[in-house]
This record gives sequence, C-alpha cells and structure tokens, in this order.
Amino acid sequence: MPDANNDIVLDIKAIHKSFDDLEVLKGISMQVNRGEVVAVIGPSGGGKSTLLRCATTLEKVDLGKIVIGGDVLCDTVDGRCVYCDKKLEKEIRSKFGLVFQNFNLFPHFSVRRNITEALIHVHKKSKDEADKICKELLTKMELVEKADAYPCNLSGGQQQRVSIARALATNPEIIFFDEPTSALDPELTKGVLKVIKDLAREKMTMVIVTHEMSFARDVADRIVFMDGGVIVEEGPAYELVTNPKQERTKAFLAGY
Ligand SMILES: Nc1ncnc2c1ncn2[C@@H]1O[C@H](COP(=O)(O)OP(=O)(O)O)[C@@H](O)[C@H]1O
Ligand SMILES: [Mg+2]
Repeated sequence: MPDANNDIVLDIKAIHKSFDDLEVLKGISMQVNRGEVVAVIGPSGGGKSTLLRCATTLEKVDLGKIVIGGDVLCDTVDGRCVYCDKKLEKEIRSKFGLVFQNFNLFPHFSVRRNITEALIHVHKKSKDEADKICKELLTKMELVEKADAYPCNLSGGQQQRVSIARALATNPEIIFFDEPTSALDPELTKGVLKVIKDLAREKMTMVIVTHEMSFARDVADRIVFMDGGVIVEEGPAYELVTNPKQERTKAFLAGY
C-alpha cells in the first residue's frame, strides 16, 4: 500500500535490531521530509551505521516499520516484522543512494563505469544517456578529466566525490551518507563537505552520519543524537548544538 503523504521521504517507526544477544537499535523512530537534511551524530557503537544499514535494506530489522518514498519496505504484524516482496524491495533500492566511509567503488572499473553501471544495467539507460549523465555529474564534482581513471589513481577525496556522483546518477529521492569524510584528511574533507553543502542548497533530501559538528550545525536542518541504540535528543541543528537539553548530549558535544 503506497503511503499517502508524499512529503515524507523516509518514515521509520519503532525499529528494533539485535545481533544475537546484543540489542543495537531499541525502538528508533524518525521521519525525513522531502528536501530536508538530517545529521545523525553520536558516539561510536551507538547504532548509527546499523540504522542506515536497516533503512537501506543491507540489514533486516526485527520489529518496526520502514517506509521509503511511499513504499512499505517492512511492517510489523502480530509481533512479527514482515518484509515486502523482492520486486518491491528492488524498486525501493532504486529510490535511494548510499555513500560509505570507505567509498566502496569497484576497483576494477573506471570512474565512468562505476557511475554508469547501475544506470545501464538496473535503470536500463542507453550507453549514450548514461555517459551524458556521468559527464554532467563529473563536471559538478570537478572531476570531468578523471572519467577514464581507476579508483586507485584518485585521492580519497576524489574517490568520495565519484561515489557521491554514483549515488546521484540514478536520481534518488534520498541519499544516505555514513561518515563520508572520516577516512579523509582535513584538506580533502573540505572538498567533500562542499559538495554535500551544494546538494543541501539544491534541496536534496539527505541523512548524514557525521562527526563534523560545525558542518552538521551549519548544513543540516535537524540533528538526531543517538547513543546506546536510542535517540536521546533531536531538534533544529543550530539549537541542538548550541543549546542541548539532555545531559548525555551535553557531555558528547563537550568533546568537540
Ligand atoms: N553485523 C554485526 N554483527 C554483530 N554486531 C554488530 C554488527 N554490526 C554492528 N554490530 C554492533 O552493533 C553496535 C552498533 O554498531 P554501529 O551501528 O556500527 O554503531 P556506530 O555506527 O554508531 O558506531 C556495536 O556494538 C557493533 O559492534
Ligand atoms: Mg558507524
């Protein structure tokens, strides 16, 4: 059943996720509106990556409900979480982009092929169309001269910009970033954060797990602070960073 509210791109309700005896997500709910940028912050081990992995079908939740772009990925009926069929899951997967900390480019593919592969094979674009989209995106990422290079010949910052171009290529409704700059030195971090900032200005819907507090404060609309598998506090970005309410949030932010 499609969800009626077209303004909500991601709707997560009370999701729980355990790995064996370890409960990593203890009832997380969050909504992301179209055009909104949400930063997820919090200490290591708090469940941020698991939340992103569950929202992007890389992990299955045990309980709760996830709706992406109006399509129900999973819902809980009689205490059991039921996932949609494979066909819908594939459609849902084509609605979001994902950018990882370690870029995750295919090392044996050129930059162009990294970007066009899914366009041609999943989205059934012609090679010419895919190349055109690729060129536009590489221009935007200031990497147009790198189309024929291989990932190993690029800096980490360039690789991450290719990975952002790849995520954008399929025209997703939402992009998830998991610590996109954690593997980069400060100079390369700047270039990647600028690209994400430009996307925010263009009203791309994004969820960004980050330790870059000033970036989160200035670029995100909203910040969610997660610790111990729960959302401890959330609010407008500037407000949360400058005036946190919860002791745990204050203690965490004091470390920055
Ligand atoms: N595949 C897995 N198997 C077992 N434990 C996992 C797995 N993935 C994550 N965890 C555990 O879940 C907890 C939360 O991890 P994670 O979501 O990566 O946190 P964060 O991204 O906030 O650092 C950690 O204790 C981690 O060891
Ligand atoms: Mg993580």
